[in-house]
Amino acid sequence: MDSTIQDTPINKKHFGEDFTWGVSTAAVQIEGAHDADGKGESIWDVFTAKKGKILNGHHHRTATDFYNRYQDDIDLIKQLNIPNFRFSISWARILPDGTGAVNQAGIDYYNRIIDYCLQQGIQPWLTLYHWDLPHALELQGGWTNRAVVDWFTEYVKICANAFGDRVKHWMVMNEPAVFTGAGYFFGIHAPGKTGIKNFMPAIHHAVLSITAGARVLRGALPDAEIGTTFSCSYIEPYSDNPKDVAAAVRVDALLNRLFIEPILGLGYPAELAVLKGMEKYILPGDEDNLKFEFDFIGIQNYTREIVKYSFFTPYIHASLVKAQKRKVPVTTMGWEVYPASIYHMLKKYDKYPQIKKIYLTESGAAFPDEIINGEVNDPKRVEYLQNYLQQVLKAKNEGCKVSGYFIWTLTDNFEWAEGYKPRFGIIYVDFETQQRTIKASGLWYANLLR
Ligand code: NOJ
Repeated sequence: MDSTIQDTPINKKHFGEDFTWGVSTAAVQIEGAHDADGKGESIWDVFTAKKGKILNGHHHRTATDFYNRYQDDIDLIKQLNIPNFRFSISWARILPDGTGAVNQAGIDYYNRIIDYCLQQGIQPWLTLYHWDLPHALELQGGWTNRAVVDWFTEYVKICANAFGDRVKHWMVMNEPAVFTGAGYFFGIHAPGKTGIKNFMPAIHHAVLSITAGARVLRGALPDAEIGTTFSCSYIEPYSDNPKDVAAAVRVDALLNRLFIEPILGLGYPAELAVLKGMEKYILPGDEDNLKFEFDFIGIQNYTREIVKYSFFTPYIHASLVKAQKRKVPVTTMGWEVYPASIYHMLKKYDKYPQIKKIYLTESGAAFPDEIINGEVNDPKRVEYLQNYLQQVLKAKNEGCKVSGYFIWTLTDNFEWAEGYKPRFGIIYVDFETQQRTIKASGLWYANLLR
């Protein structure tokens, strides 16, 4: 194994004893075993089976086979000195039809993972919803149907009851802006629905579900640390032309404030004229139910976006100036490598007095890694992580309430509509053989955390 990367300018000590270090994953992206042991179909099972939805026709039916290899992968987490493991529960493993009959085999499976983590001295961090709605519920409208709040509440109760005796850190939902935007507006993620008529109710029902789920957790597990996670991108206007500046404000509201502000009790951002139609979905009493006092907010930042006024873009009248066009360094996703973005996002969220604590629940990059003579050298990822962490430290030293950092992700995995092309892992996976090879970035992280 290559251990050439030794000394890094980043030192764990500078972040303090209490700083939480971890690695993040999600069920659909790693588990495989899509129909094993009584699991019901999820919207991703149905979506990936359709032609033309996923790059190269890839699907997640085997993924990294974490379902069967979880012990080996948790052993790797331990080998890399990573003390915290974030993973998600597949709703359809627990409730194959979304509601009603519980699949004990699903509960047993997650119990095995949790117990194995704890045996290895690794803390499990659970995400309850990372985008894989049971298909049976989608047939009834999915996130556009207000009944989803009750369905989700039922599911959360079962999880709290089943895992709450051992799991101390919970995240109700992952990146609501992405699963509602990509899944119910653009149609590029499951379930592939499009248009404002689907997007609007999906937003509101997701917010109601996040806080309803959080209340269930608080009631059942008074000692648990409860959070939820949000995607965010640092937004800058293309020029100082007032039209570009105003466009940037709108995009910032859409990408960085739409979900978090109602949850903090601030309501939906007024800058988003498009939300006017939302009133239809807001029922008496909702305002109070939209908010919850979370113990922490998880933020997930990868990049920044440059925004320009665009007359022709409906609703938002703004467009993104792509990184490739700007000739800046990019990842396989086409996202700009821009370390200061994480600093700016931390500073932004730090300003909300309602936010008690922030964890960076995802940070990482996809690059075209190759295995050569049994080794994977990924200096760009090491540099990316070091530079982003440097910015985290800067924010922390300025008093920002950031308390942890989780790398996205453990192993290369199924990157949604992009299939297996983007490799985000600190461990390389040969998808033919399922062989794992720790990348130089994995060794770098292990050194940092030693
Ligand atoms: C955020 C999502 O939570 C995760 O599922 C995804 O793989 C990463 N971003 C990278 O795109």
